[in-house]
Amino acid sequence: MLYSEKVMDHFRHPRNVGILEDADGVGEVGNAKCGDIMKIYLKIDHDTVTDVKFETFGCGSAIASSSMATEMIKGKPLTEVMGLTNRAVAQALDGLPAHKLHCSVLAEEAVKAALKDYYDRNHLPYDPQQFPEISCEGCH
Ligand code: FES
Repeated sequence: MLYSEKVMDHFRHPRNVGILEDADGVGEVGNAKCGDIMKIYLKIDHDTVTDVKFETFGCGSAIASSSMATEMIKGKPLTEVMGLTNRAVAQALDGLPAHKLHCSVLAEEAVKAALKDYYDRNHLPYDPQQFPEISCEGCH
């Protein structure tokens, strides 16, 4: 079986789909090669993600990755959210095929873009190195 049961479950029943009108941070990223787009909305209170929603126009792995990523960051302090990696998302999904790893990279990028948006909007200081270009060996 190419995809784990968790991937199939999150693909068929994605968690936290939608938009947050009053989001405190929004991140939108895309993969130029496959054309998939992912958007993450964060509600933040006291340095904690109190709510999160996503919209993904993309493949099943991208939908599953964004769904899992939202579950992993909901209710979490920003310091922890910042540490979310595509690897952790892929692991939580019990793995992704190598050629689909870039879909989980999109989830990490979208979460970080939303956090950066929150910092920018509120003129909060941050270390730009916290938002490096994310590279992915599985991407092609
Ligand atoms: Fe592009 Fe999955 S094929 S995100």
